[in-house]
Amino acid sequence: MNYREAYRESIERPDSFWGRAAEEIAWDKRWDQVLDTTDLPFCRWFRGGRLNTCFNALDRHVKEGRGEQKALIYDSPVTKTISSLTYKELLHRTAKTAGFLKALGVRKGDTVIIYMPMIPEAVISMLACARIGAIHSVVFGGFAPKELAVRIDHAKPKVLLSASCGIEGNKVIPYKPLVDEAVAIAKHRPERCVILQRPMVNGSIEKGRDLDWSELEENAQEAKCVSLEATDPLYILYTSGTTGKPKGVVRDNGGHAVALKWTMKHIYGIGPGDVYWAASDVGWVVGHSYIVYAPLLIGATSIVYEGKPVGTPDPGAFWRVISQHGVKVLFTAPTAMRAIKREDPKGEHLKKYDLSHFKALFLAGERTDPDTYNWANDLLNKPVIDHWWQTETGWAITGNFLGLETFPIKPGSSTKPMPGYDLRVIDPVTGKEVGPNENGIIVVKLPLPPSNLPTLWKDDERFLNSYMKPYPGFYLTGDGGYVDEDGYVFVMGRVDDVLNVAGHRLSTGGMEEVLAKHPEVAECAVIGAADDLKGQVPVGLIVLKSGVYRPHAEIVSEVIKMVRKDIGAVASFKKAVVVKRLPKTRSGKILRGTMRKIADGEKVGIPSTIDDPAVLDEIKVALNSIGYGPPPS
Ligand code: COA
Ligand code: AMP
Repeated sequence: MNYREAYRESIERPDSFWGRAAEEIAWDKRWDQVLDTTDLPFCRWFRGGRLNTCFNALDRHVKEGRGEQKALIYDSPVTKTISSLTYKELLHRTAKTAGFLKALGVRKGDTVIIYMPMIPEAVISMLACARIGAIHSVVFGGFAPKELAVRIDHAKPKVLLSASCGIEGNKVIPYKPLVDEAVAIAKHRPERCVILQRPMVNGSIEKGRDLDWSELEENAQEAKCVSLEATDPLYILYTSGTTGKPKGVVRDNGGHAVALKWTMKHIYGIGPGDVYWAASDVGWVVGHSYIVYAPLLIGATSIVYEGKPVGTPDPGAFWRVISQHGVKVLFTAPTAMRAIKREDPKGEHLKKYDLSHFKALFLAGERTDPDTYNWANDLLNKPVIDHWWQTETGWAITGNFLGLETFPIKPGSSTKPMPGYDLRVIDPVTGKEVGPNENGIIVVKLPLPPSNLPTLWKDDERFLNSYMKPYPGFYLTGDGGYVDEDGYVFVMGRVDDVLNVAGHRLSTGGMEEVLAKHPEVAECAVIGAADDLKGQVPVGLIVLKSGVYRPHAEIVSEVIKMVRKDIGAVASFKKAVVVKRLPKTRSGKILRGTMRKIADGEKVGIPSTIDDPAVLDEIKVALNSIGYGPPPS
């Protein structure tokens, strides 16, 4: 089957396309209906089917003779460790972990929060939840206690799983004090916190609440897989919306397993026994889908890498891992390539390693800019494939296919829509479809393919308002771009107030809420300014209350600390400036887009709706004083 046939069938006869893909999954009970659209815009995949995702990821492979194959390789340059777990070993540890969760009273439908560094136990804990039907919610380690607390209050976990510390380059970050602070702030109290003690730091154990992971695991009984409805939730993953309140994206079991297994073969060209590496973090959707679930569903070997692209120890780190473990496909973010390029522009480190078995580099998390594409492509001389996706979808919306049909690449484009995605570009005002090469908002005609979010956790209303109501019959992606005359999709960036910092999705609204809490700040705005390394970084503009005469530098340094404390280091909020006033429309809307253009040195016309054009010159001067935009004339 070529791309055209696959795409056409997926849109015209989704039941037949995804029904066939579902044959690859081991079901406890076959589905009654592939796709149920009776309640659109809510849609359900594989209704009536029963399965267990952990069974499909582990037990099944052991039963089928793959038990001695490596399932996980843990490569941690920061602790100088390389170890591995076979499918049999991973199954054993997962079943024991599931066993202690059960002993702690965790049952099907309960939630468990996982706040872990990049160690095998992060994967084990996710699979253990899946095994007993508990719904996991992984929180990225770079988020501050407050953000963790917000997620605790929303997900209401019975148990929280964490480790004593994470390691970021050469910094050891104790996690336990962060967990303690989060639990103290949160209104909801997890019954138990289970802490994996790492040798670098010992986490304090609060009697009656905290338990030691290793002791529990050692004494646990192995737990069996629980049979779940295809439509039962597998996990909740919180992602940034336009406000400070994160959205709890829900993933089901059946559609997720079917779609992800399909993608391994058809997008990445990966089969059982291959080594696949997603250099991301389990805290992000890329980590969920492509460190944990998809590689294990297909029976491949996945790598858990605790390190950075540079500095652990040098910009050859990725090439070393690829060569040492025989990686066939690497998936990472363009920012990682830019970090390597910055330190090793000529690829001297690459020359030390044999990459003959390496087949392709996949990039996502942000648009691969043509410069980064050209650099990586010239250096590796292997396909470099940009593919676009979101936490909401769980897998790519557009991309290129190693296992279906590989299209010639146009730098800057993430190639073609994936089967299942009836993608359209519309004019934001009229809602009408635009022609080739015309910019607009990218939407997907319903129904969305399997693995896409069925709803937001305990918030159908927000699901409808955010994604479904703006253009009825379509899913609003929040990204803008265009499709060219050959059907290539160019995704140019978010059309809302969501930032993309080093491939991490963050909310400007969330940061503004923090700045606004400073007692001397009257008003503020956060914009995403272009950054050579991280793609975008947040920049704050603050207006002080009248009568505040303290040095601006003091206040700036305080708000920077506040964002780090409230949101986390991951926000990379390092620049802010005091301004007399913010540019606004006559109706009072802050012109963030105009300020972003000024920061990026783009040509800025005077918006017709602006209240007072003179303010733009003040903004130019202010932004220039912190290194953004050309010097004002
Ligand atoms: N736990 C605690 N802190 C964390 C963390 C974690 N899991 N992850 C990041 N941080 C901290 C970092 O230490 C850094 O802190 P600092 O301000 O004290 O230096 C801050 O959060 C920002 O981290 P990061 O965005 O990773 O920037 P960096 O400057 O440390 O590294 C890159 C830059 C490009 C090397 C890095 O972003 C990278 O490897 N990106 C790969 C892309 C990726 O994984 N994307 C995920 C989606 S696919
Ligand atoms: P997240 O939900 O964290 O995965 O972030 C999703 C957002 O990242 C998307 O809405 C896009 O704005 C951006 N993004 C991810 N991959 C790409 C890509 N390949 N091209 C352009 N933007 C991307």
